[in-house]
Amino acid sequence: MPNLYVQSYSEESYKQQFLQTRMRTRRLYLALCLTLVLLFINVAAYQTILGNNSKRTKLFATNDQTRNKSRRRRQDADVPDISNSPTIFESDRLPVTGNSTIGYTLNTRLMASIGNGHLATTVYSDTIFVNGLYSGDGFKGRSHRATIPSQNNIRAMLPSEEGAVRRFALDVERGVFFETMTTDQVTVEQRTYAHQFYTRLLVTEIHVTRGQGTGDIVIGLTTNPGSDGQDFLWDSISSPSVASRYRHGTINVTETATSTRSEVHMYWTPVPSSITLASSESQKSVSYIASIDTDQATARESFEIGRQFARSDLYPTHLAAWRKVWDAGRIEVEGNLNLQKIINGALYYILSSLPAQEHYGTANQFYGLSPGGLANGKLLQDYQGHSFWDTETWMYPPILMLHPTLAKDILSYRIHVRGPAYDRAQQNGHQGLRFPWESAFTGVEVTPGDICWECRENQQHITGDIAFAARQYVSATRDLGWLQDENGWELIRETARFWKSRPTFNRKRGLYDINGVMPPDEFHHTVNNSIYTNVVAKLSMDFANYTACLVGEAEETAGEVESWVTDVGDRLYLPEITDEKYHPEFEGYPKGELIKQADVILLGYPLMWKMSDEVRKNDLNVYEEVTDPTGPAMTWSMFCIGWLELQEYSKASQMFQDSYSIYVKEPFKIWTEAHQGLGAVNFITGMGGFLQAVLFGYGGFRLHVDHLDLNPVLPPDTDSMKIYGLDYLGSSLDFTISRDQVTINVTSLGGDYPLEIKAGDTSYTLQEGVPVQLPRGPASIATTRQDSNRCTPPVVGDGTADRLKATLWMLLLSVLLIAMQ
Ligand SMILES: *[C@@H]1O[C@H](CO)[C@@H](O)[C@H](O)[C@H]1NC(C)=O
Ligand SMILES: *[C@@H]1O[C@H](CO)[C@@H](O)[C@H](O)[C@H]1NC(C)=O
Ligand SMILES: *[C@@H]1O[C@H](CO)[C@@H](O)[C@H](O)[C@H]1NC(C)=O
Ligand SMILES: *[C@@H]1O[C@H](CO)[C@@H](O)[C@H](O)[C@H]1NC(C)=O
Ligand SMILES: *[C@@H]1O[C@H](CO)[C@@H](O)[C@H](O)[C@H]1NC(C)=O
Ligand SMILES: *[C@@H]1O[C@H](CO)[C@@H](O)[C@H](O)[C@H]1NC(C)=O
Repeated sequence: MPNLYVQSYSEESYKQQFLQTRMRTRRLYLALCLTLVLLFINVAAYQTILGNNSKRTKLFATNDQTRNKSRRRRQDADVPDISNSPTIFESDRLPVTGNSTIGYTLNTRLMASIGNGHLATTVYSDTIFVNGLYSGDGFKGRSHRATIPSQNNIRAMLPSEEGAVRRFALDVERGVFFETMTTDQVTVEQRTYAHQFYTRLLVTEIHVTRGQGTGDIVIGLTTNPGSDGQDFLWDSISSPSVASRYRHGTINVTETATSTRSEVHMYWTPVPSSITLASSESQKSVSYIASIDTDQATARESFEIGRQFARSDLYPTHLAAWRKVWDAGRIEVEGNLNLQKIINGALYYILSSLPAQEHYGTANQFYGLSPGGLANGKLLQDYQGHSFWDTETWMYPPILMLHPTLAKDILSYRIHVRGPAYDRAQQNGHQGLRFPWESAFTGVEVTPGDICWECRENQQHITGDIAFAARQYVSATRDLGWLQDENGWELIRETARFWKSRPTFNRKRGLYDINGVMPPDEFHHTVNNSIYTNVVAKLSMDFANYTACLVGEAEETAGEVESWVTDVGDRLYLPEITDEKYHPEFEGYPKGELIKQADVILLGYPLMWKMSDEVRKNDLNVYEEVTDPTGPAMTWSMFCIGWLELQEYSKASQMFQDSYSIYVKEPFKIWTEAHQGLGAVNFITGMGGFLQAVLFGYGGFRLHVDHLDLNPVLPPDTDSMKIYGLDYLGSSLDFTISRDQVTINVTSLGGDYPLEIKAGDTSYTLQEGVPVQLPRGPASIATTRQDSNRCTPPVVGDGTADRLKATLWMLLLSVLLIAMQ
């Protein structure tokens, strides 16, 4: 999601996006909102807004020239990535900000981050964030990730800079940031990592190796944990032992008046001002460990483990845990190093914000993926660590295919915070679950209303997006345990209940309307019958009916759920395809009006709403023309996927390029949200869209309720593509795609659902370790399990054509019957 202008409260992107909409559609509103904004942000920021504003006006022209220019405006890397390894992003200096007058400082916005889903930090920043720790008033939209001063912001200094060679490298395969400093005298290697197995630990190791130098070698160390900030009420630091420090904090401002005041407990190794390699020593290693948790005993235990194993197993267990993650699912492209690096970086950054899959002890509840990842999200920056539809619509689909247990963790967050979603629906006179546009600790609505009131109130499609993610999870796994014992069925049923209660009956048409919504296109904030919203609502009701059958729901409930489909779902008004054979975005959408981002084109993918190729193509053409060229990255991934469906490869390739090239910042492949300036970083939403273009676009995968389609094409400038560990119904599959062949190798077969693959007229049973080779082209995988078609999968799509056909046949038949009499 590229959400909103709303979303970015990061200074630049919030201003840009926010302003854009208003200018275009409602000048009055603009004035009003600016005044509001003025009230809330300081005058300096306001001036910047105006500055930006005048620049942006030009961009409203969506003529070819602007478009071509914007495409060419790839920001050349200031600091290039010099490594030839697909998994190492390396440079000889760090990104800086500033100028010659004021001097240069480290640009932490473009620095690599490390994380394990429990904690995360931007390397060499003074801040650590922990999953689920938020401070600030949610009602005012100020709940944000609480900043914890980092004891691991440690820098080492050589005794002499003479002839020093420095290297900085993020190794995404190992999940480690390396800094090495080499002179004739000495080599210093510093490793920083968020432990992937002992997830409470953040580790800094410093390894000093003697070169030609003799005598004592002193390596200076500096630390800078920054200020305490205002997010916690901190106790003073204590020293449980000579070699440990401890601090306790409680959240300063809770999200709601009644929500839990979370605590944080932190143990760490104090860092001396220098370490000395004595003349008798050739090598020395030291480790500085921080252990953080919301529970004191857990933090203390992990800290002890860290200290005990610092010299032995600590590093190897971390590497082994990341190895397992990559073995469980990854994508390789041959012949295009840059693309491979960007794929690896995108997966790394998303995965390092998600829970570790195999870890020590008990994991804490996961609190969702935010557009800036776990390493970002402080007050009024990077969407404050909130979860939007970005989570389910953008980051989730590739994770589902490669790591379904993580997809379940993502859904578990929504289930965990469903209480307030029931209340929200009720407060508005509806039923079931209505999820907030922005969600943090408790699940109450935390969208800053002063920044975008309509997003907060009207962007209701998120409830359908979450339901659709649940549908995809069930389609990929048939996880009945999740449905029955982990509230999965409740999530599916109650989101559908919301949708059956939300529409209003339109007497004139005899159909239901969903009025007063903001569609994904945030340039339009109060429209009726947004086609995306209505379709996602219909899919939610259809799938609830299907799931009722899957879980063997009692007749009465099953009947009730089915009535939602027959009474409301099937009678939902969908703005008709126009004479020009395209879908209007909403009732009364004037063709040619500027839109912010992918909206209608999402019907084709991800929603897989059936329509003719002609309509699909027209939708792509009509909306490509009017999509703000400075719109967010994910938009172009969706056009890429659309054009690939229609086999328009050169258009797809251009869109693919647009989906990442200008957003990826060297050397560490940090993604920015905005075209110009940064917007939110590290924009994992864009990475999610990009990975979907790789997997669902070039891979051609489509996850249907009862089968998995594929139709692979090689990504631009590649010789082959391999997808390792794609999971389907409990089996793990490797795909090797070459110019004219696809090889499918089952590396582990899920016992419950035997699989068969069909290509053309041939079908093969998939067996473990027996690769199947097919000519490159469309194929379909499904289970051969007898009872699997017990429930009728819902049919989705523009029914008009079919219905018309059916009516004609009926007519013909009647005529024949009459004639025969
Ligand atoms: C923009 O690019 C397209 C092809 O990518 C080209 O046909 C068109 O002439 C270009 N327009 C301008 C104004 O440069
Ligand atoms: C350097 O940055 C400062 C602060 O942003 C600004 O006031 C100054 O004009 C800049 N100088 C140059 C030469 O760009
Ligand atoms: C707690 O938050 C309030 C309101 O934001 C702030 O004024 C106060 O300084 C904070 N307390 C601490 C200890 O930071
Ligand atoms: C949406 O529908 C409501 C109820 O019929 C109507 O009052 C309103 O004017 C409509 N809004 C638009 C933008 O058409
Ligand atoms: C297929 O998978 C098996 C493991 O199940 C592995 O041993 C074999 O090497 C793989 N074959 C190919 C061609 O990748
Ligand atoms: C509801 O699901 C049942 C069981 O799969 C199916 O037979 C029925 O046709 C569905 N009803 C509708 C309205 O789709």
